[in-house]
Amino acid sequence: MGMRDQLPPGPRAPKIVQTIAWWSRPHPFLERCRARYGKRFTIRLIGPPPFVMLSDPEELKELFKAPPDVLHPGEGAVILEPVVGTNSVILLDEGAHLEQRKLMLPAFHGEKMLRLSGLMEEVAEREVESWPLNEPASFHRRLQALTLEIILRTVFGLDAGDRLDAMRDRLTQILDIGARPLSMIPQLQRNVLGGPVWHRFARLRDETDRLLFELIDERRREDSERDDVLAMLLQAHHEDATEMSAQELRDELMTLLVAGHETTASELAWAFERLPREPQVLARLADEIDDGEDDAYLTATIQEVLRRRPVLPNAAPRLVKKPIEIGGWPYPPGVCVVANAYLVHHDPAIYEDPYAFRPERFLEDGPGTYTWIPFGGGRRRCLGASFAQLEMKIVLRAVLSRYELGRPSDELELTRRRNITVSPRLGARVVLRERSPTPRPPEPAEPVAI
Ligand code: HEM
Repeated sequence: MGMRDQLPPGPRAPKIVQTIAWWSRPHPFLERCRARYGKRFTIRLIGPPPFVMLSDPEELKELFKAPPDVLHPGEGAVILEPVVGTNSVILLDEGAHLEQRKLMLPAFHGEKMLRLSGLMEEVAEREVESWPLNEPASFHRRLQALTLEIILRTVFGLDAGDRLDAMRDRLTQILDIGARPLSMIPQLQRNVLGGPVWHRFARLRDETDRLLFELIDERRREDSERDDVLAMLLQAHHEDATEMSAQELRDELMTLLVAGHETTASELAWAFERLPREPQVLARLADEIDDGEDDAYLTATIQEVLRRRPVLPNAAPRLVKKPIEIGGWPYPPGVCVVANAYLVHHDPAIYEDPYAFRPERFLEDGPGTYTWIPFGGGRRRCLGASFAQLEMKIVLRAVLSRYELGRPSDELELTRRRNITVSPRLGARVVLRERSPTPRPPEPAEPVAI
């Protein structure tokens, strides 16, 4: 009967069981599905339409290249609306999406990004200086504070002062509310979460909006030269030559915050979890940083962290609007096709020994468009991909030029969901020490985990 027979086979367990597995242990769940059903399978969760997981690079290419009226990633992101607002690039599809994306793209070009590095370095070096030394500590929260500060300074263009402090305070609370798993289910946002939590959220959001509109207003009136993202957005024009409205600017700034803050913090947290367990990689990084000549190995290390631990295990689910065939399989309107980064990144036919952490694999040839997809792909590819990689580079360089990363125990950190990102369960526990002048002997290798 109906769709079940038409979609690629997948687990038959009740939706509630699949939903719990997907949220609580996503990697083993995906591995089990692939072992049983192959590279293409359907999972069914409570709430969204069926998700057809795809992980064959040829199929990913077809998916990312499909015309904008056939697949709609924007529709699936509606849970973000209370924070990002209705103009958000992340919620739109087709022409409206393209228009908004075109306004934002110039701000994220590589060369524009480089102009932000000085400020990113300054913020990173100051934060890193105050971190605890010589005892195991969790760094995820500290990395969140750091990535929030970097966004507020380089994207919102806030200078140190009262407005920055007020904004930081409210946004930290909003992001914490957003991190509760229940807040991810739209029907629950107002009802169950409802009551006091919803009211607190609404109040904080209104206060933030007031601060943001004030900022936008002020910045529109002054004509100073600035390199921040808001400055670029203030210069952007719609096709009919009008400027972006204050509401549009507000919505896109909040979008950049929501899309760019926890993702980068979690990805850095995985770098913290992984690096102390890879003494050879750390030694090579330290050498490269001390030489100061190039950053090829640091770049490759970041690419490998993103391969091994894509904090969004899949790109935005694309809702099928018109029938489409991918890899010869027909998909009817109403289902979602989902590019699965975790699975393509751990396909032994693509990456030899996929569970090993080996930056060297990216040294010769950079990552492939359809085999390395931590930032998704096609016309929805992450707008902040260069921003995020630059930021990770700057933060890791600030840390590694000052400290050694020691592992607090032999245990690996399992995963946990924080909102939509997958992060290290113990919050990235590491022992930081001032760098010693003589190299330490390598620590013994240890087994790898899924
Ligand atoms: C390591 C950090 C990050 C990761 C892993 C990441 C990953 C992603 C992914 C997987 C998507 C969906 C792409 C698709 O469905 O094809 C996305 C979209 C997006 N990201 Fe990122 N992101 C990161 C950091 C950032 C940063 C720092 C910013 C901005 C400052 C940002 C802004 C966006 C925006 C605006 C979109 C929506 C693009 C659209 O719909 O057209 N991201 N990101």
